[in-house]
Amino acid sequence: MTDSTHTGGDVRLSGISKSYGSFTAVHPLDLTVPQGSFFALLGASGCGKTTTLRMIAGLEEPTTGTVFLGDRDVTDLPPYKRPVNTVFQSYALFPHLNIYENIAFGLRRRGITSVKKQVGEMLDLVQLGDKASHKPHQLSGGQQQRVAVARALINHPQVLLLDEPLGALDLKLRRRMQLELKRIQTEVGITFVHVTHDQEEAMTMADTVAVMNGGRVEQLGAPADLYENPRTTFVANFLGTSNLIEAEVVEAASDVVVTAGGGTLRLPANRCSAPTTTGGRLLVGVRPEKITLAHADDAGAIAGGRNRVTGRIVDTSFIGVSTQYVVDSPAGAALQVYEQNIERDSRLAPGAEVVLHWNPAHTFGLDAAQSVLAGTVGDAGLDEAEDAA
Ligand SMILES: Nc1ncnc2c1ncn2[C@@H]1O[C@H](COP(=O)(O)OP(=O)(O)OP(=O)(O)O)[C@@H](O)[C@H]1O
Ligand SMILES: [Mg+2]
Repeated sequence: MTDSTHTGGDVRLSGISKSYGSFTAVHPLDLTVPQGSFFALLGASGCGKTTTLRMIAGLEEPTTGTVFLGDRDVTDLPPYKRPVNTVFQSYALFPHLNIYENIAFGLRRRGITSVKKQVGEMLDLVQLGDKASHKPHQLSGGQQQRVAVARALINHPQVLLLDEPLGALDLKLRRRMQLELKRIQTEVGITFVHVTHDQEEAMTMADTVAVMNGGRVEQLGAPADLYENPRTTFVANFLGTSNLIEAEVVEAASDVVVTAGGGTLRLPANRCSAPTTTGGRLLVGVRPEKITLAHADDAGAIAGGRNRVTGRIVDTSFIGVSTQYVVDSPAGAALQVYEQNIERDSRLAPGAEVVLHWNPAHTFGLDAAQSVLAGTVGDAGLDEAEDAA
């Protein structure tokens, strides 16, 4: 049964893994992509995103496990028999065919001769009606990418797989195409599985993001949930920026109280993804934009009940909408603070003594056994992966 009332999820991976010799590219993975959703596989280079996508498409044979599309086990089906289409980064349009014929290709190959209506609909969908007679080289990168999407969608696949489809585009065009792809997905209602290493791209587009690290899904959820409630240091650092402060638990009740660098911090117990026991260690996390920066002279005006850390500004950068401060403190070096540029306090310059303060509810707790640097730009694992790419 593969009708549209089916609710068991459009793509279901059960214990799927891939090994090359003794190297495991994807560890046994269970994953359900809900029907009609925009799903992103996000992770650094080499973490196994493409391998996972290729196993869904049938281009790679899994070492273990089963691939279901709807209720159908397709593990042994060749790619062309799966109701799936893939759009790659190198979209490779047929250079000698015009846009109309590029889009019509899939239909013609299946022996369909009256293609006009469907091609017209696809041209409208990707807003390229006026380019039908152009050749690919006469189109911009973003327009060519839209043709590639139209060419894949005209076959009415159950699932569209996209492997870094925007990777070749410059940043501005990329941002525009992200919104465009999102609109197209909403309009056609087909399940999209989108692979990217760009966290902002995944968060902008996807309903659900699976964060992959070293061949495993580390956390899966809605973008805001992943951002606000990371459960590992990798997710906390890879999705945006986090301040992670090493602390010792002094009280473990509904509020957890910790000490760090001689000061006391507080956080809700239900925001801790690691067990908290008095005397134990905890990584205390807070996002840079949750923190307010006050000059030390104004410390008296800070409302009670807020977490506070005193320190000294070591660097500031003006970004336009915000100013980013780097603050060294006894609780941690190089703490990041983002302040919106509304009323800039000229005293907040390098060397200034400051108090960082924030609502304890915006604090999360992570297992202190993990590397604080996992998922950061300086992460050795990530550097290696980037070098290999
Ligand atoms: N045919 C192969 N033989 C051996 N190792 C492979 C093969 N294909 C992929 N790998 C390895 O498996 C790992 C995962 O590769 P994969 O292409 O899935 O990564 P990715 O997450 O898509 O990375 P990127 O963002 O760079 O595209 C990598 O370490 C890669 O070197
Ligand atoms: Mg890849």
